[in-house]
Amino acid sequence: MGARSAGDVVVAGLKRLEYRGYDSAGVAVPVEDRIEWRKKAGKIVHLEDEIAVRPLPETGTAIGHTRWATHGAPTDANSHPHVAGRIAVVHNGIIENFASLRAEFDVEFASETDSEVAAHLLNREVAGGATLVEAMRAVAPRLEGAFTLVAIDALEPGRIVAARRNSPLVLGQGEGEYFLASDVAAFIEFTRDAVELGQDQIVELTTDGFTVTDFDGQPAEYTQFHVDWDLSAAEKQGFDWFMRKEIFEQPRAVADTLLGRQNHHGELVLDELHIRPEELRRVNKIVIIACGTAYYAGFVAKYAIEHWVRIPCEVELASEFRYRDPIVDAQTLVVAISQSGETADTLMAIRHAREQGSKVIAICNTNGATIPRESDAVLYTHAGPEIGVASTKGFTTQLVACYLLGLYLAQVRGMKYGDEIAAIIAELEGMPSFIQRMLDRAEDVYALADELKERPSMLFLGRHAGYPAALEGALKLKELAYIHAEGFAAGELKHGPIALISQDLPVFVVVPPAGRDQLRDKVIANIAEVRARGAHTIVLAEERDEQARANADTFWPLPHVSTLLQPLVAIIPLQLFACEMATRMGHDVDQPRNLAKSVTVE
Ligand code: F6R
Repeated sequence: MGARSAGDVVVAGLKRLEYRGYDSAGVAVPVEDRIEWRKKAGKIVHLEDEIAVRPLPETGTAIGHTRWATHGAPTDANSHPHVAGRIAVVHNGIIENFASLRAEFDVEFASETDSEVAAHLLNREVAGGATLVEAMRAVAPRLEGAFTLVAIDALEPGRIVAARRNSPLVLGQGEGEYFLASDVAAFIEFTRDAVELGQDQIVELTTDGFTVTDFDGQPAEYTQFHVDWDLSAAEKQGFDWFMRKEIFEQPRAVADTLLGRQNHHGELVLDELHIRPEELRRVNKIVIIACGTAYYAGFVAKYAIEHWVRIPCEVELASEFRYRDPIVDAQTLVVAISQSGETADTLMAIRHAREQGSKVIAICNTNGATIPRESDAVLYTHAGPEIGVASTKGFTTQLVACYLLGLYLAQVRGMKYGDEIAAIIAELEGMPSFIQRMLDRAEDVYALADELKERPSMLFLGRHAGYPAALEGALKLKELAYIHAEGFAAGELKHGPIALISQDLPVFVVVPPAGRDQLRDKVIANIAEVRARGAHTIVLAEERDEQARANADTFWPLPHVSTLLQPLVAIIPLQLFACEMATRMGHDVDQPRNLAKSVTVE
């Protein structure tokens, strides 16, 4: 807000943030006791076209949003801002308890989003006599989940109030003008002086200044900083590559994908999954179809689903599926995994499965994409847009969605007790902090990447759920560093691949955790075998696993997690390694040669 036309400034800022989400956009301004807004599905250019036809009044205050859909398809109605009475609101994040809050209102909502309820809650408060900031103090603590909310009130046109919990919010301080955004990239052309708002804080903004309080209205501390990145670095939040930024976003992406999946009795509820429990009980076979990284996520899912649900589960490359005349029918549940939701091979496989009468559940990161639209049901991952061509947070959030689906099937089919499911969910909820611990050791990984950057070939070994993690580690290295990298099941070594072992060949080994001692012992024996033949072993094993450590030339400690969940932590250093190798070799990490982000041709 400030001297310029605030609507224009907001649209310019949204364009800077378009890389974060680009399925719809909108702007709202307070004008003469009412709110005016423009919003459009699709890229921001559609919003600009709309504003060109129906210009917004010039005002000193405006709010806007570019959306990456979580609840509700990317349509005009679901775009933000959401307006209720005097209030307009934009929201980033997920309001987990939106359904119960919505039930408090006897009015028809204009959208299917979780966000709109925040506009109604705030409007009810201001209609009852509260100021906008008082309204925010009343509403914000009632919202569960993750949110940044920014609101305006038509009757307080020179004021913006924002609140944050578990979602980013930064304030830009210009001369007589202020900016609020989820990312400094939005306002860096106007000011580089910024304030980072803390957890559970509310900021109130007028042209005269700003005040920061906690949800109780007490003055709160905040951090001021000066941005010295250029614009392209700002979009990447100071990281050199989108991929690296996305690797570091994984604690949040995994946490977001877990949000809102349990009811108050602790039962799993997968709201988006519109397949009736009776139908899921009739299923006698599961077939997972996907490509590339998503296929490896599916591979882990096979181990988890068969163990938890006791249904035969196949995992198949989507490109192979329909050409081999697969045996699928009305009792087969097909799970299609795709980050983009546009992969042609996966789409064709889905069509083929549905023609045979199978039900298809999509696991997808892109709301409203073709694959979820053509499936019977969808479970969305909440990774946010993935810009780097090589999938990272896409993979870990797919894993989480697969685990949730497996546990849900176990629940509806009575294969696990509620407390057993709750224990695994609790373990999943602990994963973001374990992933963070892995990220905190990035420098060790980078040092090894420097040491190994001239090597022409590397091997990756794993067993059980560690096998797909090894395959994914090898894929990351192939696609980014353009070197020969192969993943093998460690048990296969003696059946051929051991012939590849030569002096100094780097061999990465993912060791199963304690508790799977038979498996673990065998993998340790494999490490000794390759080391005896001169390989340089990089061992990813539990921190306390002294035997694994003793067999390692380089040891990367993993936290103690159960075997099925271990890929969530084991993959982190492998992603970092590939990213760093490629960087040190001078490659374009975000756009590796010959690759496209979504492969829309077979
Ligand atoms: C590898 C990678 C690809 C994709 C594959 C499927 O880093 O990104 O292997 O995983 O093309 O893409 P989606 O998940 O969009 O169907």
